[in-house]
Amino acid sequence: MPTFIRMTSPEPSVYPGPTHSLADIAKASWQQLASVLDERTDASPAPGFKTMIVASRTETSADARTVVLRKVDTDRKYIWFHTDVRAAKVMQFEAFPAATLLFWDETLRTQLRFTVETHLHSDDYIADEHWKEVGVGSRKNYLSEQEPGSEQPAPYPGFPPALGANLPTPEASEAGRPNFAVIECRVLAMDYLRLSREGQVRAKFQYEPESKMTWLAP
Ligand SMILES: Cc1cc2nc3c(=O)[nH]c(=O)nc-3n(C[C@H](O)[C@H](O)[C@H](O)COP(=O)(O)O)c2cc1C
Repeated sequence: MPTFIRMTSPEPSVYPGPTHSLADIAKASWQQLASVLDERTDASPAPGFKTMIVASRTETSADARTVVLRKVDTDRKYIWFHTDVRAAKVMQFEAFPAATLLFWDETLRTQLRFTVETHLHSDDYIADEHWKEVGVGSRKNYLSEQEPGSEQPAPYPGFPPALGANLPTPEASEAGRPNFAVIECRVLAMDYLRLSREGQVRAKFQYEPESKMTWLAP
């Protein structure tokens, strides 16, 4: 592992700078993503790379929303997140299986921008494998009787209102499985940007259709 990577230290100035190689920067970035997976989503402050903005295409424009990073394959260059199969983004990915994943870590002063191809898993073993790892707190959201984004006569909490602040039992949470989906993102390229007073660092890492890495003007 390159020695400059900040995994736990809050000192951002030791993160990759212009003197580090492109290969080191790519490796550090992927490892940094993978390192947040065990962090709690509700940690305060949450690590920057714990959530990302997912931008998608629609028939007429673009759309974007925040989601939680769920899994990373640093070797094969894949990223996964979870969603409700009835959500608008799922329809968008079915029509246009492409997205941009945008991460920003304030401490590292680093933005990662991934160009990806999306693949929906809802009724297969991949979704089953992910579902096994989803705790009842998150499963509660998949118990919603109302479609995400549907109009409601009054505020709707996103789960059966009778549950209130309670968690479902593991058995009851299984009713959410049909609503659960995994979006698998095959990374085609990564754009790296680190802000620094000594000079910004920007680089592009192309993975598909062929590998290429290069510095970019910020
Ligand atoms: C911090 C945060 C984390 C979120 N995580 C997820 C998530 O992991 N999956 C998800 O589908 N929506 C998540 N949401 C809600 C989405 O941002 C969005 O409102 C919802 O998925 C509906 O999006 P859509 O209509 O584009 O499908 C999160 C929102 C916030 C603010």
